Amino acid sequence: MSNLNFGSDKKTQNPRHYWHSFPAKFPPDLPRLFIENLTSPGQVVLDPMAGSCTTLIEASMMNRLSYGFDIDPLSFIIGNAKLHNYDLSEVKTEGYKILTLSQFDFEFKREELTNDLNSRFDKETLLFLDYWWLKETQIELLSLIRQIEKVTDEKIRNFLKLVFSSIIITKSGGVTRSRDLAHTRPHRVEDKLPNSAFTEFGKKLIRILDNGYRNLPTKSILQIGNTKSLPLKDRSVDLIVTSPPYANNAIDYMRAHKFSLVWFGDHIDNLKNTRKQYIGAETLIQTGKTELPKYSQKIVRTLSELNPNKGKALHRYYCEMYDVIKEMHRVLRPQSACIIVVATSILNGLDVNTHQCLAEIGQSVGFDLVHIGERTIHRDSRMLPTSHLKNGSQIEARMHNEFIIGLWKESNQ
Ligand SMILES: C[S@@+](CC[C@H](N)C(=O)[O-])C[C@H]1O[C@@H](n2cnc3c(N)ncnc32)[C@H](O)[C@@H]1O
Repeated sequence: MSNLNFGSDKKTQNPRHYWHSFPAKFPPDLPRLFIENLTSPGQVVLDPMAGSCTTLIEASMMNRLSYGFDIDPLSFIIGNAKLHNYDLSEVKTEGYKILTLSQFDFEFKREELTNDLNSRFDKETLLFLDYWWLKETQIELLSLIRQIEKVTDEKIRNFLKLVFSSIIITKSGGVTRSRDLAHTRPHRVEDKLPNSAFTEFGKKLIRILDNGYRNLPTKSILQIGNTKSLPLKDRSVDLIVTSPPYANNAIDYMRAHKFSLVWFGDHIDNLKNTRKQYIGAETLIQTGKTELPKYSQKIVRTLSELNPNKGKALHRYYCEMYDVIKEMHRVLRPQSACIIVVATSILNGLDVNTHQCLAEIGQSVGFDLVHIGERTIHRDSRMLPTSHLKNGSQIEARMHNEFIIGLWKESNQ
């Protein structure tokens, strides 16, 4: 087994991987290793929980066709922007134009902007905006997004939306009164003075353009979709490389992504409904008649004795992952691999051994288990959530390692 502890050498990577932050995204070398070794040019690679599209970009760079799906509307916006090739001088001209026009509107059309702010958002969304943004910043962001909406070239419009979103979803700086949006843990800081949206937008635009980017030679197809039911034919995929959300909903994508999505026209209320479809979202809905294999059942039972609600949530997560893994098995061609990357979770002091359970579930739907590898997460390159320590103390520690489950579909069933 190769060394899986990839460093964070960004110089050798396609700069587009770093255009927008995304929690728990792959180091690009990880999908690259499997794509390079397990497929040939022209074959089909799938990531059914594509996130920021690391797998798709790497597949395309190696001339493989790739499909990606994700339930998250922001993942779709970011991915769409990252998967296209641009004429950078056109992007620059358009970017500077909208920056100038929006600053003009901010200075001279204040009343129109204020009226627009009150009419385009519903009451609940307005309350959300007022809680997290200064009025001044709201007007700045509105004037920017109004100009972005007018850009006629769809590809450039998507790219500018990515730039817009990237100045909101940041670790500490950014334009909101929140800290830690990049870790999906919004934390309101009363005395935080947000940066000017115009300055941040201009800075980010220049940074992306200055870094340049490498063309993607092969087209990828990205769709909004639920990984439990993929619009793909049986046996149509040559390799899957993916990473699902964590068991305890440690990374609640919607919690942070709604900060950008409201500006693109989504209502807070609708986003709450979308969130319920994420794997592992803690809503305790019925899980149908899935019978988990023995070891996974035992882990769920042990956790339920410690904490019945967490037990139910874990049961739901494993049942959902059962459906996901079964679906991945359906779309894979025989003699192909499915690589699942996941960290485990400590819940109520119990290590729920997510990797062992998912490997067991994989075997129960017909895969052979090839190997479970372990890798250290590079401190600087991954944005991962914290986990509770084994002794249940409230002190939190960062997740330091994750597991790579190698599954193999042998037969034609
Ligand atoms: C760990 S992230 C994937 C990160 C990705 N490997 C990357 O490099 O950016 C997990 C992804 O699963 C997505 N997801 C959660 N539930 C889903 C579902 N039911 N269908 C499709 N995607 C889902 C989340 O929106 C998130 O983008």
